[in-house]
Amino acid sequence: MKPAILVTRAIFPEVLTKLEQYFEVESNQDDIIFSPTELAARLKGKVGTLATASARINTELLQQVPGLKMIASMAVGYDNIDVPACTAHGVMASNTPEVLNETTADFGWALLMATARRVTESEHWLRAGHWTKWRYDSFLGADVHGATLGIIGMGRIGQAIARRSMGFDMKVVYHNRSRLSAEQEAYANNALYVSKEELLQQADHVVLVLPYSVASHHTIAAAELAMMKPGATLVNLARGGIVDDQALIAALREHRIAAAGLDVFENEPKFHPDFLGLSNVVLTPHIASASEATRRAMANRAADNLIAGLTEGKPRDWLNPP
Ligand code: DGY
Repeated sequence: MKPAILVTRAIFPEVLTKLEQYFEVESNQDDIIFSPTELAARLKGKVGTLATASARINTELLQQVPGLKMIASMAVGYDNIDVPACTAHGVMASNTPEVLNETTADFGWALLMATARRVTESEHWLRAGHWTKWRYDSFLGADVHGATLGIIGMGRIGQAIARRSMGFDMKVVYHNRSRLSAEQEAYANNALYVSKEELLQQADHVVLVLPYSVASHHTIAAAELAMMKPGATLVNLARGGIVDDQALIAALREHRIAAAGLDVFENEPKFHPDFLGLSNVVLTPHIASASEATRRAMANRAADNLIAGLTEGKPRDWLNPP
């Protein structure tokens, strides 16, 4: 008998085939989002799970599934997993770093450009049949080239975003828990380390790519938005809870900042309905890593972690090694 595992959400068929070589796989190709109670019920009798960021893994769940040995998450961010609780319950946890850095950085740029240059706003206007003549002042946006880019969270994705700014002759300022090495700063378009306040005061475009935690909750709230330049743009690629939605909605409504691009939301797939009434926000459904190649790479990396963890006791991207 092969050991049993659960794949919590729909996934590429070839990844299921790979897992089936090692395990009895219960999959969820109907892609139902399991409630915490249902997730616990499905995990009973399973030794491992390949889960996505929508699965909440906490003490309450772990207490109900004593046979569980490993959680392989298909995401780099793991704020949905209580890693110390996993350790306390003897459960290995892993994520999927590296494979999505470049694709996520590409999308950060897509959102930055769309936001600063009002791409989706003007497209909606055109589709609605409003375009009757060219005007000198239609959809005036902010320049990206030559501007100052502020990056909060200068991990590998932040550095990849900064690197791309070389082609736009931008100055880069960044804020991070710790300062990068001189080599890393040089790689990231000679990025300058500044305080969060300095960054918000100096940047024309602010991109958020920091991990979510209690400490980073509402990193951008009313006080921070008030520090930003009028005409600045804000892009959030990280997690919804990093931004205070109410404060952002007020700032956008009053045009205290020009625009925002949001790929993540605090209670996604739900999001604050007031965003829909604002033309100066670009909203996308958590797709920063969604290129064909990268999502396949993430799914395979998660599967490989699960296989290595459950067969050798040593996943490559182990979040809680001894
Ligand atoms: C990640 O990998 O953390 C992405 O945000 C997808 O959840």
